[in-house]
Amino acid sequence: MLHTNLANWATQGPVDVKQVISVMVFNFTANKIFGYDAANSKEKLSENYTKILNSFISLPLNIPGTSFHKCMKDREKMLKMLKDTLMERLSDPSKRRGDFLDQAIDDMKTEKFLTEDFIPQLMFGILFASFESMSTTLTLTFKFLSENPRVVEELRVEHEAIVKKRENPNSGLTWEEYRSMTFTQMVVNETLRISNIPPGLFRKALKDFQVKGFTVPAGWTVMLVTPAVQLNPETFKDPVTFNPWRWMDLDQVTISKNFMPFGGGTRQCAGAEYSKLVLSTFLHILVTDYSFTKVKGGDVSRTPIISFGDGIHIKFTARN
Ligand SMILES: *[C@@H]1O[C@H](CO)[C@@H](O)[C@H](O)[C@H]1NC(C)=O
Ligand SMILES: *[C@@H]1O[C@H](CO)[C@@H](O)[C@H](O)[C@H]1NC(C)=O
Ligand SMILES: *[C@@H]1O[C@H](CO)[C@@H](O)[C@H](O)[C@H]1NC(C)=O
Repeated sequence: MLHTNLANWATQGPVDVKQVISVMVFNFTANKIFGYDAANSKEKLSENYTKILNSFISLPLNIPGTSFHKCMKDREKMLKMLKDTLMERLSDPSKRRGDFLDQAIDDMKTEKFLTEDFIPQLMFGILFASFESMSTTLTLTFKFLSENPRVVEELRVEHEAIVKKRENPNSGLTWEEYRSMTFTQMVVNETLRISNIPPGLFRKALKDFQVKGFTVPAGWTVMLVTPAVQLNPETFKDPVTFNPWRWMDLDQVTISKNFMPFGGGTRQCAGAEYSKLVLSTFLHILVTDYSFTKVKGGDVSRTPIISFGDGIHIKFTARN
């Protein structure tokens, strides 16, 4: 999947990475969740989904004509399609594909909350949680890498060494290889630190507590603004500079208190390890098989989700 997409981009002129990555992430995730077959599907569901996302944070006025109303209608349609897929699988087991939906169907017998109405919502929610965050993070990765050629060079050294050590040069990436990607992990951490995909985390105060002389009463909702911590110049010198090497000097205690891209505690994001794995795998294929340069764009703004103005236009070239 990642290979096919990159190969395809390399045959074209400059592509807007935000756009092509969103489609790639959607097709990939929707395939893992409910067996969506992008290549043979009549509908471009990634476009439906992007539409829902674009009007998701809008004034909640549910009357015809508002973008909120439109968004709710589109969401209903999507949920109905997901429910139809579920019903189809339930009535015809030969349609099984070993994806998330099949797992949910198997678990319906033991888990009471997995009802025919809840599973479509769950699939919609998981798509939602992974789509926007993964595509934004991958797009930002291109911004940082194309503006920091030294980082790309060092990544290439690490990944070419991994490929060289393989007995069979055509074998895929292994778990051991993934664990050995020290510099890549620094690049991933640095990307997550600067991107701050969620603008903050919400927690409920279980008992009264004091902050700088103020009392926060039990029951209040507290918003922890993670960007303020992850861009604190006392912990991260020149905080907005993309510098993966800074991670060499950070100890685990400092990291755990000042870096929480996936939240923390028992409510940590369930997709944390998955996201890091996808990012690392993508980087592996990208730097070993392709070179790329930014042609134009790269402006980023926050409203409050991250958006990319005129996009980031990248020219990909296959390496030999
Ligand atoms: C994604 O799916 C659409 C159809 O839904 C297809 O036209 C497109 O080529 C697919 N793109 C990728 C990158 O897989
Ligand atoms: C996707 O969008 C198209 C075009 O607006 C629409 O015809 C189709 O019904 C939508 N499909 C779903 C599942 O929402
Ligand atoms: C990256 O961050 C994680 C915490 O999310 C930390 O455990 C790990 O040591 C960091 N990696 C590097 C190379 O600093």
